[in-house]
Amino acid sequence: MCGIIGYVGDQDAMETLLIGLDNLEYRGYDSAGVALQNGGGVDLVKREGEVNTLKAAISSLDIQGSSGIGHTRWSTHGEPSDANAHPHTDCSNDVAVVHNGIIDNYNELRVQLTEAGHTFTSDTDTEVIPHLVAEKLSEGKTPKEAFTQTLTALEGSYAIAMVLSGEDTIYAARSGSPLVVGIGDDGYYLASDVPAFLEFTEDVIYLEDGDVAILSETGYETIDVEGNPVSRTVDTVEWSPEGAEKGGFDHYMLKEIHEQPTALERATRGRALTDARMTDGGTAANEIDPELIADVDSVQFIACGTSYHAALYGEQLLADRGIEARTSLASEFVASPPPLREETLVIGVTQSGETADTLEALREAKARGQKTLAITNVIGSTAARECDEAMFIRAGPEIGVAATKTFSSQVTTLAQFAGFLSDDPEDLPAIQSELTTLPDKVQQVLNESEAEELANKYRDAPSYFFVGRGTGHPVALEGALKLKEISYEHAEGFPAGELKHGPLALVTPETPVFAIATGENEDRMQGTIREVAARGAPVVVIGDGSVTFDGATDQLTIPSTSPELSGILANVQLQLLSYHIASLLDRPIDKPRNLAKSVTVE
Ligand code: G6P
Repeated sequence: MCGIIGYVGDQDAMETLLIGLDNLEYRGYDSAGVALQNGGGVDLVKREGEVNTLKAAISSLDIQGSSGIGHTRWSTHGEPSDANAHPHTDCSNDVAVVHNGIIDNYNELRVQLTEAGHTFTSDTDTEVIPHLVAEKLSEGKTPKEAFTQTLTALEGSYAIAMVLSGEDTIYAARSGSPLVVGIGDDGYYLASDVPAFLEFTEDVIYLEDGDVAILSETGYETIDVEGNPVSRTVDTVEWSPEGAEKGGFDHYMLKEIHEQPTALERATRGRALTDARMTDGGTAANEIDPELIADVDSVQFIACGTSYHAALYGEQLLADRGIEARTSLASEFVASPPPLREETLVIGVTQSGETADTLEALREAKARGQKTLAITNVIGSTAARECDEAMFIRAGPEIGVAATKTFSSQVTTLAQFAGFLSDDPEDLPAIQSELTTLPDKVQQVLNESEAEELANKYRDAPSYFFVGRGTGHPVALEGALKLKEISYEHAEGFPAGELKHGPLALVTPETPVFAIATGENEDRMQGTIREVAARGAPVVVIGDGSVTFDGATDQLTIPSTSPELSGILANVQLQLLSYHIASLLDRPIDKPRNLAKSVTVE
């Protein structure tokens, strides 16, 4: 989704901004642009399409400066076009603004500004911002006053960055959309997320809602919209810049699939557990207060996309231990809030910690007095900060739009959480002990998988179906989602038992069915496989090979592990399958059309 980069300092601002835009590409976008302050105005270049198209346009121009802002846009108001790309400026090109989020009252502001003589050149909600700032500057306000007073006129959610003609300063503000300041040796950075400037600095300030940051070559200040100073701590990001690079793989997705052994080791190792509490690495930010779970008797999960599937998996792990659990899609939770008891812990499962639907649902739960826990990958993310407690899945940066390693790390973390809530004191040590063997087993799948051969065999199928039972069900859903996202082929996941209640009508000799035969449901899966095979459909079984299934055409073998963790291994096989099908079909794997890594609008 939209990305922001800003820089002020001793380096060439244009070069820095373009590197930042490259780093933001993974979020998904349809146009990009930059604006540099040049002393006598603002140099603005923006283009529909890829960052490379923008770079080509810039290469023929001589634009230099010490401060500027850049943006990758994912359309919400107005089609993708040069005009609608950010930055947006006022009528005299003195004020340039980039914005993530949505200004709800932009229509009303636009009418007022038009009546005051302002001319608009785009369909965006964002464009009201530079015009409002210009209006206030023309009334004699200082830039700081003009900026903060403009903010008070805006309704909606935003992360905003602004440069002005005549001063090397970036004005930034956050309300509902993430924004982080980077403190480097050679200047200050601003971005919607850390990977945008990670190669320049690891020292960051996560702005909070209501914060305004003013960055110049000589320093920075953080204030509120009234101009009062607010104190924000400087954190050091633990992610390495290499973690956000492709490292010799053709795609981030493939790299991240291959990072799973390490990610799973990190998700397990060092999570010290004692009888009374579950600590997460020992740092204050990572520690779960025992109070949080003291009276918990049930769990309500909230999540979207792949995280929703991980949460469904977690629900099953809790249910297996007699702990009541329910999983809601975040958007549905908000649309139709389910009844919750006081003792129900609400858990937001979110890789980014910034998904707008999930945040809204978590806020709704908090407003209803529930205790909340975020299970997230991003320290400092909004979910981590707003929930009562956070558990970090420690997967490292995930750049590919299609989530892979974070699913495995989420499930691993949820398995430990389930063991922790369990009444059986032997449960958690058993899970932990099994988890320590998992990285090697994932590595074995990566080394020996025949997913590429099967991708070749089935690449031209008109539809793909995935079925599973128990924890195999969320894996089936995730397998289908992955394939849809990156190959653009039709794929559906079903609970295996439901196949005969409708979806079987779609099964033909041309439609491969992937049967996740993990867990302890082999006998029942045999029934499903026979049903499918009887319709002439090829059946690919994903299992540990301990059972021979009558009617199976192919097999993707996983090492044996405890039945409840085997879905993680099966899912790795399906990730590879999706990757290879998409690769054979020549799809833009890391940047699938219309999708964004982090969906920060509802
Ligand atoms: C987007 C991404 C998905 C992701 C979902 C939830 O739709 O494209 O890959 O699963 O958001 O993201 P979250 O950061 O909350 O896990």
